[in-house]
Amino acid sequence: MSASDNLIPVIVSKVVEVNSIIKRFEFKHINGDALPAFSGGAHIVVEMIDGATKRKNAYSLMSSPFKLGQYAISVRREDDGRGGSKFMHEKVVPGMEMKISAPVNLFALDLRAKKHLMIAGGIGITPFMAQMTQATELGLPFELHYAARSASQAAYMGSLKAQFGDAVACYCADIGDRLNLEALLSDQPLGTHVYVCGPKGMIEAVVQTATNLGWPAAHIHFEHFLSPPMGKAFSVHLAKAGIDIDVGPEQSLLEAIEASGTPVNCLCRAGACGQCETQIVACDGDITHNDHWLEDDQRASKKFIMPCVSRFSGKRLELDL
Ligand code: FES
Repeated sequence: MSASDNLIPVIVSKVVEVNSIIKRFEFKHINGDALPAFSGGAHIVVEMIDGATKRKNAYSLMSSPFKLGQYAISVRREDDGRGGSKFMHEKVVPGMEMKISAPVNLFALDLRAKKHLMIAGGIGITPFMAQMTQATELGLPFELHYAARSASQAAYMGSLKAQFGDAVACYCADIGDRLNLEALLSDQPLGTHVYVCGPKGMIEAVVQTATNLGWPAAHIHFEHFLSPPMGKAFSVHLAKAGIDIDVGPEQSLLEAIEASGTPVNCLCRAGACGQCETQIVACDGDITHNDHWLEDDQRASKKFIMPCVSRFSGKRLELDL
């Protein structure tokens, strides 16, 4: 059973062009009902029916957790991606009916923290928008450090400064503003938790710097917003179902398994939650793992695969599904 099994019918209530690469989409329940409650950092899975192709992508909720009449997400257009963001940008318009999953939170604020230190890169700002609203409402101390290539590409930078004032610091690389992680992470009160969402390099730098400075691992939170990569088509045998399935170049292995009607667990669809971990029965070829879940020895054993983000090339891959 996965979060995206019981989908909620919604109507696209608004589409806003935030800048040249980012659009915001707002959804209301098709019956006008309140949408399920969530906390800052949660994501939903959006189902995209694009002709014969069905995609499901996860996006962080950026709207207020205290206003459940609608959800909002922002989508960065990735022209080199599998087509999900392109579909959202080109085909999704107000009034359109779509389906979304209930929210799941793998990046929640730890309410035991004395202070919440948030670090965002680019479109990684979106989970923090809901978290900051939650922190403000609950009176939790927080500050946001938001880095982007330029002010024109930094979605919501102006409005966040206006709404949260000195709690928000912005860094635009094109004018030479740089976030000094070592200085920032060295100068925090005991009991602070750090949260980072953004490009892979930024997440690694924050985790490494905090670890080097002696931050406890339980105080370091990160969210990868990895979308399933494209690749060459391949075939897989599902041993329990007794079927062969084909995975197209723009399709994830998870999507191909779902399309076959075979049940598989999943929450994040991004290689982070561990829910889709699947045992390999036989593998004659190479797996490109792409996940943030498996340990190196598990990868080397060729006994495990994360179907949401991993791909295969070779003669035969047989899964315990
Ligand atoms: S669905 Fe979360 S790791 Fe695959």
